[in-house]
Amino acid sequence: SLPVPSVQALVEATGGDDVPPRYLRPDAAEEAVTGDGDGEAQIPIIDHRRLLLELDHGGEESARLHRACQDWGFFQVSLVNHSVPDDVVESMKVNIQQFFQLPAETKKRFAQERGQLEGYGQLFVVSEDQKLDWADMLFLYAQPPERRKTKFWPDQPATFRSTLDRYSGAVKDVSDSLLATMAKNLGLKRETIADKCIRGMQSFRMNYYPPCAQAERVVGLSPHSDANLLTLVLQVNHVQGLQIKRNGSWLPVKPVPGAFIVNIGDMLEVFTNGRYRSIEHRAVVDPKEERLSVAAFHFPDMDAMIGPLKELTAQEDDAYKTLDLESFMKIFFATKLEGKSFLDRMKLN
Ligand code: SIN
Ligand code: FE2
Repeated sequence: SLPVPSVQALVEATGGDDVPPRYLRPDAAEEAVTGDGDGEAQIPIIDHRRLLLELDHGGEESARLHRACQDWGFFQVSLVNHSVPDDVVESMKVNIQQFFQLPAETKKRFAQERGQLEGYGQLFVVSEDQKLDWADMLFLYAQPPERRKTKFWPDQPATFRSTLDRYSGAVKDVSDSLLATMAKNLGLKRETIADKCIRGMQSFRMNYYPPCAQAERVVGLSPHSDANLLTLVLQVNHVQGLQIKRNGSWLPVKPVPGAFIVNIGDMLEVFTNGRYRSIEHRAVVDPKEERLSVAAFHFPDMDAMIGPLKELTAQEDDAYKTLDLESFMKIFFATKLEGKSFLDRMKLN
């Protein structure tokens, strides 16, 4: 990604009234948005405790998960204390808020280096004239542990590293359990997916969306689908901004307290040969208040092949190419975010 200025610094310096032309996206404001921000009335909510109880034999909650995966590609998972301890979630929220509150010079100690993804900065900027998102972010690999580049892990606040370490493991367990139920729901052995994720990778994108006086004319995060298998997003403060593409218009998501927002990524669409589809989403910004979120991306093992699972394609054609994970990722990160255009290139016809 090409280096770009910090939006937070820009807002601090100018008060945020003047929006540089590179951030203005007049087209975005014209796209239809559904309803009044009450997306929670429709978006499926899955009870994680029930799902775990049903893991070995299936049941109503598993069936609801299957429908959510088929019809939405998107849902929320309400957690109970034993899946991810409340104090770990709360501590993650406090730590990421405190990190973004640090002075610019302190945050810069963790800045991305040229040609690398990890660190504080921005992703997917591939040309000098490309429109920019109204946000800063911190990107980190967390699993498997040997992939961690600790120099990009903030040492301020002092509890950041230990918190992310605990949060990472707990969130990965939830992701693994969802994938296990999904495998069963698809008529597969649990191991069919799990065996590809034994040293499964996990990365984090921690987003900071400053307020914008011209909020309608900027975009916090460009429309895209995620490349990975499964993404678990934690909404950090009370400000809404995530929207999903549903029946041709944008549906605002109202995060349920104590739940993760989960979306299906491109790799799961490819694995399932299109039975489960990745979902296009974007983030908008608020005119007055900052918004923060923590997205955890779950991938198969680094050496896994990404292609339709042969257990699912005995009697049908592969709808997608098969590619090693590294090539898949290289193409993804070298492309600007643009709806599902990346996955379209993986399609066979
Ligand atoms: C994303 O990571 O795609 C969006 C997360 C969010 O800000 O809700
Ligand atoms: Fe995303």
